Amino acid sequence: MRIVLGVTGGIAAYKAALVLRLLREAGHRVRVVPTEAALRMVGRPTWEALSGEPVRTDVFDDAEHVDHVALGRGADLVIVAPATANLLAKAAAGLADDLLSTTLLTVTCPVLLAPAMHTEMWLHAATQANVATLRGRGVHVLDPDSGRLTGADTGPGRLPEPAAIVAAALALVSPAIDDLAGRSVVVSAGGTREPIDPVRFLGNRSSGRQGVALAVAAARRGATVTLVAANVDDALVPDHPAIAVRRVETTLELRDAVRDAGSGADVVVMAAAVADFRPATTTTHKIKKTSAGPAPIELETNPDILAELAAERLREGQVVVGFAAETGDATGDVLAHGREKARRKGADLLAVNEVGADRGFGDVPNEVTILDGEGSVVGRGSGTKAQVADAVWDAVAARLRAATTIER
Ligand code: CTP
Repeated sequence: MRIVLGVTGGIAAYKAALVLRLLREAGHRVRVVPTEAALRMVGRPTWEALSGEPVRTDVFDDAEHVDHVALGRGADLVIVAPATANLLAKAAAGLADDLLSTTLLTVTCPVLLAPAMHTEMWLHAATQANVATLRGRGVHVLDPDSGRLTGADTGPGRLPEPAAIVAAALALVSPAIDDLAGRSVVVSAGGTREPIDPVRFLGNRSSGRQGVALAVAAARRGATVTLVAANVDDALVPDHPAIAVRRVETTLELRDAVRDAGSGADVVVMAAAVADFRPATTTTHKIKKTSAGPAPIELETNPDILAELAAERLREGQVVVGFAAETGDATGDVLAHGREKARRKGADLLAVNEVGADRGFGDVPNEVTILDGEGSVVGRGSGTKAQVADAVWDAVAARLRAATTIER
């Protein structure tokens, strides 16, 4: 494939060298188009040596061959990493004052921009508006990672890892898969809330992004999807003709909705973070402070929905998939806990991911190991939540295929 790799002048420009290497190792031809500012971070010889191609920054460098038009027409994919706030603004406005911005105006292939900048610049209304404009035009703009930035500051603005950028970019041009066509799937997402009184609840930090990514990926692969969304932010809930959304709040509501939709489904994926306990009683009035101090909250155990689905099988041959967020502790590492959980829950597949203060929750890249019911590794996925979702569906599709072959 012919790829244009644009590099703009952020400190993270050095990471683009790794993006370039990964693309070259995967067998792609890459033309690097840095901006002048990017060349102050990483010099031309590095880009020429790693790409084996000439490197130009200006439209007048090779005016005879009208390089920007040739580059744009010949490209199968354009990646800009890092993409500064300035590049986003120029691309949104359609400005063309160097080879990279000019090339962006001539391409018709998929374009992926990987922004990196200080948190304030990323969150600025101007940048967010530019990102929205670009996304509205079909440009793929990755969300930056959260974490340590160039100085002492931390927050969203880090360039995503080179492997994640490459995987997200290549996914844009990979042939469409429809291996779930004709299948009906249920995905639970989000986190359940158990009311204590009319204003308080026991809950968890699950955003629902992974479950939403699973629903979207399943729909893209041809499935009819019911998304059972437990307290998922409206902005995240997909509006897709193949995805029916059922909103729930508590574990018991989630259980009812999943069982109801699951009775006709080929696959049920429990990606929701389910509260294991709920207050034994819920008051109808707000609990007030008293001089006697807080009264203890008595809890009772919620049903284990995944274990129930696995034990009962609402439909013959149904594939039941669980997720396990683990941290590892003195008694075993993440995978050891995952294996134990896979056997205990009895699901067909369990996607195990490591969570911690900055891993697994919210808008961060993910890594999962997919185990079968005996605890053997049957797949792995890493990168964005969309990529993890595809890894899970790959494993599910393989099981569905195997079952169909046996039936024949
Ligand atoms: N799950 C469920 N019902 C519950 C708890 C969990 O269906 N009451 C499902 C989750 O949706 C997930 C899987 O079980 O797919 C694993 O969830 P997790 O919270 O890791 O499992 P627990 O059984 O709660 O284990 P732990 O003791 O580690 O909390």
